Amino acid sequence: MTEPKTAAAMEWSDSFVLGYPAMDHTHQEFVACVAALQRADDADLPVRLQAFADHAMAHFQQEERWMTETDFPAAQCHADEHAAVLKSVREVQALLAERGDVGVVRQLVQALVDWFPGHADYLDASLSHWMAKRSYGGAPVVLRRGVASPASN
Ligand SMILES: [Fe+2]
Ligand SMILES: [Fe+2]
Repeated sequence: MTEPKTAAAMEWSDSFVLGYPAMDHTHQEFVACVAALQRADDADLPVRLQAFADHAMAHFQQEERWMTETDFPAAQCHADEHAAVLKSVREVQALLAERGDVGVVRQLVQALVDWFPGHADYLDASLSHWMAKRSYGGAPVVLRRGVASPASN
């Protein structure tokens, strides 16, 4: 049986822009991989989940390499959060392979949608500012279109 696809897949938004272009590019890929998982039929979940796992490995290694190479302070808690995500992905891949458990994949995908904004705003944003400062000698100016202020609704 094919699960109903999520009505609204995750979309890239200017609210995700952090200002260090290499990271923003990787984060666009993250959103695309998650959206592909949301739209996938059950039969496509294994290949989409593997694609996400490959993306996440590269994404997290890239950020961890930047932190190591530049002696970024407080890198460990950021890396720990990445490791927790990868662990969950591997566990869900195993459940899918062994039992065909598509429900747990759908739960993981929703957890990723919920997890990303907080991780990006908190841990990735400080790394982005750090990297941009090293590259350009100042924190980036981030222009965001169409982001309503909390008071405007
Ligand atoms: Fe990231
Ligand atoms: Fe990160």
